[in-house]
Amino acid sequence: MNQRDTLKINVDGRLEIGGIAAGELAKEFGTPLYVFDEAHIRNMMRTYKKVIDEEYGGNGLVLYASKAFSCEAIYAIAASEGIGVDVVSGGELYTAVQAGFPAEKAYMHGNNKLPSELEFALDSRIGAVVVDSRTEADRLDGLARKKGVVQDVLLRINPGVEAHTHAFVQTARTDSKFGFSVSDGTAAQMTDYLIKKPNLRLCGYHCHIGSQIFEKQSFVLAANKVMDFISQIKKSTGYEAERLNIGGGFGVWYNDDDPKLQLSDYADYLKTLISAVKAKAKEHGLKEPFLLIEPGRSIVGEAGITLYTVGAIKDIPGVKKYVAIDGGMFDNPRYALYQSKYTVLLADRANEPCCEKVSIAGKCCESGDLIAVDVPLPEARVGDVLAVLTTGAYNYSMASNYNRNFVPPAVLVKDGKAEYIIKPQTYADLVRNDVIPKRLKQG
Ligand SMILES: Cc1ncc(COP(=O)(O)O)c(C=O)c1O
Repeated sequence: MNQRDTLKINVDGRLEIGGIAAGELAKEFGTPLYVFDEAHIRNMMRTYKKVIDEEYGGNGLVLYASKAFSCEAIYAIAASEGIGVDVVSGGELYTAVQAGFPAEKAYMHGNNKLPSELEFALDSRIGAVVVDSRTEADRLDGLARKKGVVQDVLLRINPGVEAHTHAFVQTARTDSKFGFSVSDGTAAQMTDYLIKKPNLRLCGYHCHIGSQIFEKQSFVLAANKVMDFISQIKKSTGYEAERLNIGGGFGVWYNDDDPKLQLSDYADYLKTLISAVKAKAKEHGLKEPFLLIEPGRSIVGEAGITLYTVGAIKDIPGVKKYVAIDGGMFDNPRYALYQSKYTVLLADRANEPCCEKVSIAGKCCESGDLIAVDVPLPEARVGDVLAVLTTGAYNYSMASNYNRNFVPPAVLVKDGKAEYIIKPQTYADLVRNDVIPKRLKQG
């Protein structure tokens, strides 16, 4: 288990987060329940910001990638830490704005931003739009002209580096719905195209090479390639990019296959990246660009746990033992989507030896609805509170009302206190937008 100050197993063998026993949270708020540790979130945000301040003279901005977990409270925390955010939809931007987040510190992504989303971004005076297609460039330029504004934009490019966990590859051609390739010349063509748009101001480039990455060199390689590209563009057109957004992707601990990174390790990732950018700027005689990073998972991933109650146990001799919980793929679809691995504990018996391997089954009417397969656990009993660790990223944000289950509420814990940041849904919420056309009504 990852040793952090605020997530631990206490002397009674009970899992504790933010100074509260997980079992107590389950009693007070019910299950399933997402629990977020505020101290962890703030520590991660501060770590990245401090490195940019101290190692790069503050010439940059941390953007929390809010797709990892979006709700008003997280934007309020980001605002109070003085960092920016990236948003990937009108909905995320709306949530940020509702939370009072300053839109000028928001960057908008997406390979097919809707006209209404672009218009909302302009009306909100968003910091920058990361352009990802020619159509979008035309659309945004047209909308900006109508509104009499000039919008800052970045261009999303593919430097030809793809990374995931412990491996990364350099690719000459990138097959991705995102971005424009540096190697086939389309990134250069799009640069020309954007420079000529009267109501867009091209500020620089963005790339994102992957997620759950532990290999520092992959970020260095990507930064080097983008800096080489900036130099090449400067030589051929005279245009010098002012901003470089290197995306997100720093990895987190899910289970003991993953390294347990400390705050200092995350700081090292960023320091290494900064050194590479500085060295390349020097090599090419470029100004050091304003540096942006977009960590999502590493800020909220390990800050979150999900609590469930065991409701049924089915032992199929010689095959599998299923421990069924009151949640499932509707609150965490990541096993169903990617066979993602998690660490599972019994919240009140977290120190008991694991005597068997079980599979954690959700309650959806779907045999693929599993949270974990063949994970070690002490013998679980009906009524036990089960905790799944590292569920802060891409769980709530990917949740649904599948089978008309409720998306669980979330609480934020700090110094022994817990408060709702997302309230429980009700049956009424589930039918709120349903309409029965008159002709289908009885009588
Ligand atoms: C453009 C972009 N930026 C940032 C992120 C955040 O990545 P992570 O959560 O791995 O840090 C993503 C995730 O897919 C992304 O697509």
